[in-house]
Amino acid sequence: MSTKLEKAMYNISALADLGQAITSEDAFHEKIQSVLYVITGTFLANKGAILFYDKSTQSLNTLTQKGFAQDDLDHLNPEELISLGRNKSCLIGDAPVMAVAGAEILAPIWVGDEFIGALLLGGWLTAGPLASEDLELLNVIANQIAIALNNHSLFMDLADKLEDNRRLYEEMRHIYHGTLQAFAAAIDAKDAYTKNHSHRVAKYSVAIARELGWNEHEIEGMYVAGYLHDVGKLAISNTLLNKVTPFTPEERTEIRKHSTLSRNITTKIKFPWKNVEDIVWHHHERLDGRGYPDALAEDSLSDGVRILTLADSFDAMTSQRPYREKMDVQSAIGELRKNLESQFDNKIMLVFCKVLAKEINGELPEPDILPHLDRNSDLSVISDLLEGIISELSAR
Ligand SMILES: [Fe+2]
Ligand SMILES: [Fe+2]
Repeated sequence: MSTKLEKAMYNISALADLGQAITSEDAFHEKIQSVLYVITGTFLANKGAILFYDKSTQSLNTLTQKGFAQDDLDHLNPEELISLGRNKSCLIGDAPVMAVAGAEILAPIWVGDEFIGALLLGGWLTAGPLASEDLELLNVIANQIAIALNNHSLFMDLADKLEDNRRLYEEMRHIYHGTLQAFAAAIDAKDAYTKNHSHRVAKYSVAIARELGWNEHEIEGMYVAGYLHDVGKLAISNTLLNKVTPFTPEERTEIRKHSTLSRNITTKIKFPWKNVEDIVWHHHERLDGRGYPDALAEDSLSDGVRILTLADSFDAMTSQRPYREKMDVQSAIGELRKNLESQFDNKIMLVFCKVLAKEINGELPEPDILPHLDRNSDLSVISDLLEGIISELSAR
């Protein structure tokens, strides 16, 4: 293989590499710099530059260069370069625009009929004119750089768009969270006894969903459903919500409307999360079909619904209510266990016990359940109880 051909092969493989390595702005600049060194080495030129034409600002940007005075490159007129290079693959000579920068060769870089940059070379170390195969090689190189630059600019456009989308999504999340807190504050204001209930149910539900291996988007949907599950109580009278004596059958029917009301409110909001309405609508259903409002059972209940029914009941039992005292944590866990399969799901219970045990053992850096439990709880008793349930349910 002749030396020139070897050089050409080396050059082209370096450029092909450039086309593939468009993973970040930094990686791209590193690559294009090494490509320029390969090109100047191949042609024994002291000076080289790869320029990128930004059509939105109509300016030439130096992607990389060696040997030129940057100031001279900054003074290149893109319009002149474009008209000089139009329909030409490679220019040798002393056109004024090239002389300004001290360049002897200009290889314009086009993608279709769009000018996207230029390769400049100068400061030859060898005497004599360039051979025709050198010019052919320069053409190949210019075409390769064209592909790389084009891919890169598409990539950067895409990266910009993704960044815009990410920012919009963040803003939207911010608004949602503000809305959620406003709703939760409104519910709390109506019903003093359920203060922070929605917040705790959201936290417990998130802990279970995370332990189940849900992704961050699904977990956030669960959090929102937890926050809003009782939002329908806003439409129930204060007197009824705060009643100390047991409910009459009519009052019970009235208060049970809250899950459908929660669903009616949440359907009005266009959530990016699936199933929020379904979860809030059915958070009082039971596996045995004796829940409300639709007496759904087993297969009709999603994992989201099963998580929320458990989280909701656990918090209801461990909180003070107008008509009864709160239960201690181990009694509440015992109640959940007693109602497995009729009301609560075995798998969700197992996961709940596992995550709470991990929190008690200090295995989770940011516990979601433990900080809300009664401070006087005997954690070693709770731990033993959880271990018992975990081994019993794991064996099934
Ligand atoms: Fe409820
Ligand atoms: Fe609730």
